[in-house]
This record gives sequence, structure tokens and C-alpha cells, in this order.
Amino acid sequence: MRLALDPRSSHPVYAQISGHFRAAILADNLRPGVRLPAVRTLAANLGVSRGTVESAYAELMAEGLVTSRQGSGYYVLPHAPGELEIPPRSGGWPAWQDRLSYAGFEAMSAYLPEVSRQTDWIALDGGACDPRLFPMHEFRRLLGQVMRRDGVAAVEYGEIAGFGPLRATLAQVLASQGIQTGPGNILITAGSQQALSLVAGLILPPGSSVVVERPTYAGALDVFRSRGLRIHTVGLDEDGMDMDELEEILARHKPGLIYTIPNFHNPTGTCLSGQRRRQLISLAGRFDVPVLEDDYVGDIRYEGHAQPTLKSLDPDGRVIYMSTFSKMLIPGLRVGFVVADGPVYAHLLRSKRCHDLATCNLIQRALKDYVSVGRYHAHLQRSCALYRRRRDAMLAALERHLPPGSSWLRPKGGLFVWVNLPEGVKASDLLPRACEDGVVFAPGGNFFLDPVQGEGFMRLNFASNTEAVIEEGVRRLGKAMGGTKNFLPE
Ligand SMILES: Cc1ncc(COP(=O)(O)O)c(C=O)c1O
Repeated sequence: MRLALDPRSSHPVYAQISGHFRAAILADNLRPGVRLPAVRTLAANLGVSRGTVESAYAELMAEGLVTSRQGSGYYVLPHAPGELEIPPRSGGWPAWQDRLSYAGFEAMSAYLPEVSRQTDWIALDGGACDPRLFPMHEFRRLLGQVMRRDGVAAVEYGEIAGFGPLRATLAQVLASQGIQTGPGNILITAGSQQALSLVAGLILPPGSSVVVERPTYAGALDVFRSRGLRIHTVGLDEDGMDMDELEEILARHKPGLIYTIPNFHNPTGTCLSGQRRRQLISLAGRFDVPVLEDDYVGDIRYEGHAQPTLKSLDPDGRVIYMSTFSKMLIPGLRVGFVVADGPVYAHLLRSKRCHDLATCNLIQRALKDYVSVGRYHAHLQRSCALYRRRRDAMLAALERHLPPGSSWLRPKGGLFVWVNLPEGVKASDLLPRACEDGVVFAPGGNFFLDPVQGEGFMRLNFASNTEAVIEEGVRRLGKAMGGTKNFLPE
């Protein structure tokens, strides 16, 4: 046990010892029934006499916090919750803490905090797929197999770039999507959020600027804001980013990066058309600006043709491509990856090392086995079939329950439906009403640099709930909106 004792303090040493245990008991870090360290051991550890420890324990006994059992030691006593008060912290925080600020907090903080959620709420606001589809048994088996087969190699740091065989497998998967690359150009990251941060940190010095879609992924706004970057936004329609507006911004502001989500865009679900993809690459070449292509759900497609990735259209190594296993499998693995060419790759590698040395080795090895035996592909097919039915269920429910004046885009893939609220309905007013009715959505403002611009929208996740839950969730939404169409009274 390591306690910070100060022999020069005006507090006697025994009181310092009892103070540590008191604080731990009151904070519930020492639970009722837990045995305190033996007097002799603690005295030896701390370099104090046994009498000093005994005095400390006697004080705790007198306060009713611990009891002694003959020949067995001292034990924490139970107490009713809230019965024992943690004394308020005296004094303020050091001045340097008061000076801290975090510029990127806005977008993410607009979500409802987890703690305030009711368990019976229907969550249509999530950003992920359905965790119940994750092949839990199979993955557990693979983890065991990897540990037996690879031994300690599986739990060492591993390569900075990521587990070589996983990168090789990814290179093969990417080749099927028209991206000709090799393991030496792939960097495994802790989710694609880390890829976003690493690329931003490398390419965009403070004070420089970035172009994003309007609206865009809240977590990207967060990264760019937190770095103090200037953010230019370009509107989009059903065919993705507006190329005229993009050209104007490139010409006027000379930004350092274009960040785009060309497939099943978050939050709108739209896809960049083939023609605009080529235009974007040509504009990026003309204005000599790098592109960060965020392909977070590229494989979750229900209909329509797969468009080529921007990376596959890029002859000059201008496009940095990133994707993730979070949406197609499960977010908690925290495995994403970047594909980059030329010096940018070497710099990203250094930056990765500096940030966290390497992504979890064990998980990467299990993932490699899962992906390469084709199970991942089968999982994707199953998930897509299910999510397509859920998308259809949501579109039908919206049709049934949302009031006139609401409209939405029909996503051909991905996880979200983007709803345009009727004239005069504000998402920030609707959200508390919807929560009262037991349903949560992601308010449009989260996805705009200026949240006011998103007041007329909400994003609904159809992938993470069953069809019955979707139906009920949208019914509640319609009720909260004062919907009249086929409204079912309770
Ligand atoms: C568009 C987009 N990009 C990137 C991410 C980051 O995901 P992860 O870090 O789990 O890979 C998300 C997560 O919601 C996202 O929606």
C-alpha cells in the first residue's frame, strides 16, 4: 500500500493514515466487508510503528466506519447510502485549471448525457449499428485461439502500423474496392476517430482551415474545432457536396484539407454522385489540396451501384482514405485504419507512435482471423439484409406517423434517415417533448457548425433497433410533434 504521509505536517501521522482510509470508505472505494491491511504489514510498508497504525484504526472504529474481529483484523462496516457525507472539498482548483478551455466541446455536448437517459426510452439517436449482431461466441473463441497459438506475442505492444497480417488482409479487401495499395501504406488506428485526429494534427497547423460538408459528422467538427481551425462548410443535396460552392471556397480561402463522407453521409445518408467524385478529385488537383475520405459505412449498402472510392480515382496520392470496423462490426473493438501514400504515411506513423504506441495487438489478431476466413463478409451480408428491412420499417413508420410538412431522404445504405421537420418545428424544442414521450433522436444542430442551421432537422438511426421498436419509436415521435396522420391514441 502506498500512502502519501508527510512527517512535517501539523497532522499527526496516525491521523493522516486514518484520513486516507476514511476518504476511501466514504467514496465507496473500500466497500463494506473489505478487510483493512494487517497492522503489522501496513506499519512495515509505511515505515511507521505498529502503535501508529493501531491508533489510526482505533479512530476509524470510534467513528463507526470499521470494526475489529478477534484474531482476524479490521473490516469496513456497512452504512446506508448517503448516511456518510463526503466532506466538501475546501478551496478552489489551482489557477492553471481555471485557465483551461476546450474549443471542440460544442457538438458532442449537445447530445443528452448518458446518465440522464431513462432505460425505457427508445434510442433513435445512436451513431452505431446493432451490437446484438456482434458474433460474440465466435469472437470469444477466436480470442482464445489467438492466445493459444501466438502466446505472449499476442499481448506485446505489436507494430506501430498495426498487425502486419491484418494490414495485408485489408489491402486485399481494399483491392476489391479499386484501391490498389499494400500493407506498407495502411495504418491501423484506434477507431477512425483517431485517424481523423492524426490526419488533422499532421496536415492542419493551428490557424489553418478545413472544408467540410454542411451538415457533417459531429465528431469531425469536434476535432477541427478543438484544434482551433477555421472551418468552411459546403452545402449538399441528394448527390452530395455542391461542387460550385466547393470551388468558390477553394479559390477564396485556400484551405489545407477537404474532409468528406462520400458514402451514406453522416447525418444525411446521401452519396456523392460519380460525376461529382471526379469533379472533386479534379478540383483538389487544381487547388493542390489534400482530401480526407471518410468511408465509415461504405460496405453497408442496400441498393444502387457502388460508386468508386475517391482514393481509387486519385492518381497523385492526394486522397487519404479512412474506414473503420466500428459500424460494420462493433465500435468497442476500436479498430479503424488509414490508407495514405508518400511522406504523409511516414509522418502519420510517427504521430501514431507518439499518441498511443500501437492499437491493441490482441484484438487486431482476432479481427484478422475473423476477416480472412470470410466470416466478416457473411456477417456484412446478414447485417445488410437486416438493416435494409429496418430502414424500410422506419420509412414506412415515418410515412404513417409524422405530421404533414415532414420530409426525409431515402438512404440507399448506412444507418440513418435525415428528417426535415415541418415548418416552425425546432429540433431543440422537440427533443425534450420527445424524451417525455420516451424517444430520443439526434437533433440536427449537432451536425452544423452553426447549430441554429440544424434546427429544422433530426437524424434517426434505424439500424440499432428492431422493426417493432422502430415503429413504436416513430409513433412516439409523431405524437411529440403533435402529428395527426394515423395517430394512435394511447
Ligand atoms: C462519419 C464518421 N466517421 C468516423 C466516426 C468514428 O468512428 P470510430 O472511431 O468508432 O471508427 C464516426 C462515428 O460515429 C462517424 O460517424
